[in-house]
Amino acid sequence: MKAAYITKTGPPEVIQYGELPTPEPGASQCLVKVSAVDVNPIDTYIRSGLIPAQLNFPYIIGRDLAGVVVKTGKGVKKFKAGDRVWVTGQGVADRQGTFAEYAAVDEEWLHPTPGNVSDEDIVAISLVGITAHLGLMRKAKLKGGEILFVNGGSGGVGSSVVQMAKILGARVITTGGDDKKVELCRQLGADVAVNYKKEDVDQAIKSFAPQGVNVWWESLREPNFERTIPLLAMRGRMIVMAGREAKPPFPVGPFYVKDCSLHGFAMFNASAEDQEQAAADINEWMLQGKLKARIDRVLPLSQATEAHRLQEESTVKKTGALAGKIVLKP
Ligand SMILES: NC(=O)c1ccc[n+]([C@@H]2O[C@H](COP(=O)([O-])OP(=O)(O)OC[C@H]3O[C@@H](n4cnc5c(N)ncnc54)[C@H](OP(=O)(O)O)[C@@H]3O)[C@@H](O)[C@H]2O)c1
Repeated sequence: MKAAYITKTGPPEVIQYGELPTPEPGASQCLVKVSAVDVNPIDTYIRSGLIPAQLNFPYIIGRDLAGVVVKTGKGVKKFKAGDRVWVTGQGVADRQGTFAEYAAVDEEWLHPTPGNVSDEDIVAISLVGITAHLGLMRKAKLKGGEILFVNGGSGGVGSSVVQMAKILGARVITTGGDDKKVELCRQLGADVAVNYKKEDVDQAIKSFAPQGVNVWWESLREPNFERTIPLLAMRGRMIVMAGREAKPPFPVGPFYVKDCSLHGFAMFNASAEDQEQAAADINEWMLQGKLKARIDRVLPLSQATEAHRLQEESTVKKTGALAGKIVLKP
């Protein structure tokens, strides 16, 4: 089968596209014919070696896929050949990645693809959707009527957070780096979207939330707590989920006197069981058209190197070249 893989960590150019043996499904695995995969910032950290990971070379890159089951192991109970499925959270521990024509995946990680939702759409929402769901439901415990702020409402995680917060009945304020992205945020349902390069974001937050923000979803890799904590409401919750190297000052007084709480999490710690409720809600909301994928572009799998370069430039070097996900097709 054709696959995008690495035999050492390094810049995007270490990604090779070529033939690898098609895997045989183990007893609890389904062999999936892959129809779509996508890129996440973490893929670039693993490929570059920024996150030291135990990788079995040749290591197939990628965490998410959508496709169709073509073969099942003896012990598989939930799926059969012909079922459309999606998955996130691969390419870690002893699990191979997804950027290939075929992948053998343990059935516990697979979710059915709902109705006629496309493979491109479901894969583009997979990791970021589960992330948004875990953060909003398990960590922030967002309630209807509350106010949520998230930076980058047209980005991968941001676009899922905006939409899910609206589905949960919250009022949402978000930002975009240009007028087109600001408009995208509004189309995704944001009540207020601010161009952070041209407008005064803090002033906009104060006008929208005079009593402060109930949930602050910090998606930036350099959080600025001196700025954000004063903008929190009484009993405000803040989510942090990016910025491994960040060591920002933290103003303790203004934080604890408002009974605030800080919640960190990484979706890759979520077990298959943890993912299940999130995946069920995502499927339902996608089917109802309430949750939409934000796809920036679709590329052939052979352009995995270019896709990684773009993702890295956009998220890490902050060029903002992307508005949403890169999907690749084998
Ligand atoms: N902990 C977890 O479980 C988890 C899961 C997924 C992702 N992550 C991490 O979360 C981060 C975001 O991931 P992603 O997939 O959403 O990346 P992304 O699609 O590149 O989105 C990044 C967003 O940040 C916005 N942004 C950049 N600089 C900004 C600034 N100065 N002010 C306001 N907004 C700014 C961008 O807005 P514009 O494009 O409008 O400039 C963009 O929407 C990454 O570091 C990723 O590794 C963590």
